[in-house]
Formats: sequence, structure tokens, C-alpha cells
Amino acid sequence: MNDPGFVLWFTGLSGSGKTTIAVELEKVLLERDLRVQRLDGDIVRKTFTRDLGFSVDDRNLNIERITFVTTLLAKHGVATLVSFISPFIAARETARKEANGENAPFIEVFVNASVEECARRDVKGLYEKAFAGIIKDFTGVSHPYEAPPNPQIICNTEDETVEESIKIIIAYLEKEKLIPNSS
Ligand code: ADX
Repeated sequence: MNDPGFVLWFTGLSGSGKTTIAVELEKVLLERDLRVQRLDGDIVRKTFTRDLGFSVDDRNLNIERITFVTTLLAKHGVATLVSFISPFIAARETARKEANGENAPFIEVFVNASVEECARRDVKGLYEKAFAGIIKDFTGVSHPYEAPPNPQIICNTEDETVEESIKIIIAYLEKEKLIPNSS
């Protein structure tokens, strides 16, 4: 049987930097010869969960399906990088329990940037539409986001560069012996 991998679960507002960090981290982990799989809300919602919208029920179903996949991947030794807003504590805690149930560690990474900062970045132009009421139920504007009370890692992307965030995450993974030390 394979040793389990782990789930690195990035949660945060749209535009907080989840995808950017996960993409760069994936490269670092691949260079270290780990088996890595990245799952990203913007991609998964065009395929696997394209039938879902942004109501509370649909978001919960979105995360429930992703949890099923991440648990399977982690169970089979894959370093699984997950970047979804995943706004609800209960759904993230279910994801943690399921991974832990397969002996796979679950590391919650809070990608922290304020609504104001995300709206200033407005990479996809969605905040402008959300504030204008054109997009309804937009997380942080007209829909709730429950920040993790006790995340394993916090990336403060208003103050840190991507490289700094990656360093913090790698240091955590090495300390927990989830990846081999680089030297
Ligand atoms: S989640 O809430 O169900 O976890 P998910 O991460 O899959 O959300 O998708 C979020 C992405 O969908 C955002 O980054 C954004 O590009 C897009 N999006 C479209 N409408 C909304 C909305 N109402 N709220 C949040 N994100 C939205």
C-alpha cells in the first residue's frame, strides 16, 4: 500500500491569491519529484461542477464533490493542492475529517487579503460587477465568508510576495516531514 499524501487546502476570497500560490507551489513540489495534483475552483467549475451556481447549497455541494476527489488522491499518496473559496467552516472541516480518515494530513492555508484589497486588484472584473449588483451572492460583498479560526498556515498576501508565501508553506511541509528536506 502507498503511504498517504496530504491535502493542502487553500481558502480565501476571490482574488486573494489562492491560485497564484498553488500554481507556483506545484512547480516546487514537482521539482522535488512528488506526485502532485492541483484542483482549482475556476477550472473545476467549468467541468466537474459546471451544473452548480453560488447558492449556499451549491457551494456546499461543490466542496462536497471536491472533498470526495481530494480524499481519494491523498489516500493514494498524492500531494493534493486545492484552491476554492470554500467559504464555510463546516464544509472545510468535513474535508479535513475525510482526509484524516484515510490517514492523510489536511493542512488548511488561509490566503488572507481584505475585500477592499481583492476589489482593488479585481483581476477578473467581478468585484466591480458585484458592487454594482450585477453579480449576486458574491463572496465577501453579498455572500458570507467564514475565515478559518485556526488555520495551519496563513499567507498574508497583502504584505507577502508569492515567493515568501511559498517559503512559509515549504518550511511547514518540511517541519511536518510531509516532504523531504531540500538539502
Ligand atoms: S466556492 O464558494 O464554491 O468555493 P469556487 O472557488 O468554486 O467557489 O469558485 C469561485 C470563483 O467563481 C471565483 O474566483 C470567481 O471567479 C467565480 N465566481 C462567479 N460568481 C461568483 C460568486 N457569486 N461568488 C464567488 N465567486 C464567483
